[in-house]
Amino acid sequence: MMLNTDIGAIGVLCSGGDAPGMNACVRAVVRAALYRGVKVWGVYDGYNGLVRREIEELDSAKVAGLLQRGGSILGSGRCPEFHEADVRAQCAAYVREADLGGLVVIGGDGSLAGAMELHRMGIPVVAVPATIDNDMPGTEITIGTDTAINTAVEAIDRLSDTASSHNRAIIVEVMGRHCGYLAVQSGIATGAEMIITPERPIELQSVFDEMTNAERRGKNRFMIVLAEGAQWHASELTRLINEADNPYDARFTILGYIQRGGAPSRFDRILATRMGVSAVEALLTGVSGVLTAWSHNRVELVPGDDLPERADPWGETLTRIQRISTR
Ligand code: ADP
Ligand code: F6P
Repeated sequence: MMLNTDIGAIGVLCSGGDAPGMNACVRAVVRAALYRGVKVWGVYDGYNGLVRREIEELDSAKVAGLLQRGGSILGSGRCPEFHEADVRAQCAAYVREADLGGLVVIGGDGSLAGAMELHRMGIPVVAVPATIDNDMPGTEITIGTDTAINTAVEAIDRLSDTASSHNRAIIVEVMGRHCGYLAVQSGIATGAEMIITPERPIELQSVFDEMTNAERRGKNRFMIVLAEGAQWHASELTRLINEADNPYDARFTILGYIQRGGAPSRFDRILATRMGVSAVEALLTGVSGVLTAWSHNRVELVPGDDLPERADPWGETLTRIQRISTR
């Protein structure tokens, strides 16, 4: 690999909703860069750290023990001002002043959009996909998704125990914003009787019919995994079920932020590590404006301005994406 030895230092930040594995990625970025003689500065609280000029040099010891830690030691967050062109210009000027030869942006699709703006202003940037929603175009999976699904699966299994003891329907609302991936994966993995997603709205009568069928088949529970972006909120669907004449009395649980925290799964630790190392290698070989995408069991660098319009976590259009390699 031909390294760009002119880069003395790079920055790394986490942006958007936090995701388990962000820390593991920060660790990988720091260790991969230091290994190649490049210093790393952590930028605090997403793009806010560039606006407020809050950065700190990270050495190897500062990122020790991060593989297993949820959250983000750098903080993560939204930065509404970053949508303004003049604020972004000030941030780009600061990156140059701080002598950062590139930035690794770890976050979701909004964070990627911000990264692409910096890239267009001449700042070398590589984006790493991290969000529990798995709603990013161009990558089969994002850092944090696997852990969030495992967390949901554990919770749904527990809820299923109590549902079957009481002959109840339990509606479990999982996160995912506008994407039903978490709901589908956790619903299939727990054998839920019904999964409701934003992608496939359903008639209320079909929910009632399925309940009647389930009771006829002798089922002592009726688990519904409901995506947060679906047509009903959990409380609303519960009320509608209980107001009608249905065989199961309904209760609901919203899993919420519990899905964002906790130690990352083995898969997320490895994914985060591989993507972090790839991001550093990309910057050091002069590549910018790309996403470290997961495709066919490996990391590929996909140009950020050449992504499909929408995410395709089901993999139908993924093969049509144009890819470039580091060489
Ligand atoms: P995520 O990265 O998880 O999708 P957001 O959509 O909230 O989370 O985006 C995170 C941050 O990225 C925003 O608060 C903003 O600072 C920045 N950002 C999002 N969209 C854009 C955009 N179109 N242009 C510039 N910056 C953006
Ligand atoms: O994008 C991750 C996510 O947890 C979504 O699943 C959820 O809709 C959203 O973030 C919640 O955002 P906030 O942290 O701003 O409440």
